[in-house]
Amino acid sequence: MINRNIVSLSTTATEEIGRAIAAVLSPGTIVVLEGDLGAGKTALTRGIAAGLGLASMVTSPTYTIVSEHISENGGTDLFHFDVYRLHDSDDFVAAGLDEYFYRGGVCVLEWGDKVADILPDNRIRIELRGNGSQRDLCLSYPDVMKQRMTLVMESLSANKEIAI
Ligand SMILES: Nc1ncnc2c1ncn2[C@@H]1O[C@H](COP(=O)(O)OP(=O)(O)OP(=O)(O)O)[C@@H](O)[C@H]1O
Ligand SMILES: [Mg+2]
Repeated sequence: MINRNIVSLSTTATEEIGRAIAAVLSPGTIVVLEGDLGAGKTALTRGIAAGLGLASMVTSPTYTIVSEHISENGGTDLFHFDVYRLHDSDDFVAAGLDEYFYRGGVCVLEWGDKVADILPDNRIRIELRGNGSQRDLCLSYPDVMKQRMTLVMESLSANKEIAI
């Protein structure tokens, strides 16, 4: 695994980071998002949805556990989870939610560490911390994504509200 840090200075910048990261996500990739309430997990997911070319509105699926964002033009679908209300992976599997991993979309899981034991290996993890308008993002991703992630970082470094 490779670890990289990114600093975001605004909500828009965090969305921009999500948008750029979407470029390295392929069907079946899992994105685990960690961070306290209000850390920016949903903001980052909104950017990922935009980057995948999905127009639908992204809000925290806290009560529904999962929101489906289906591409209308044959692109990649996004399955957006918020597993905050689940106890552990047994709850997740009992609800049949693990089937989403094999539907060919990108799966983003807010609070995904709770179900880490059943997640496929093809995944990245992003932890967000901070307050005010600054967020420190810590990305972990497999070695095979190194080159593509380096390009993502380069594309973001031009943004004045983002520090790599
Ligand atoms: N740099 C930043 N990046 C992301 N969000 C920021 C930033 N600065 C301020 N914010 C604000 O923090 C809040 C983040 O909310 P968001 O719903 O994305 O958090 P969350 O991690 O999904 O929370 P929850 O666990 O409740 O679902 C928003 O109100 C957003 O405007
Ligand atoms: Mg959220």
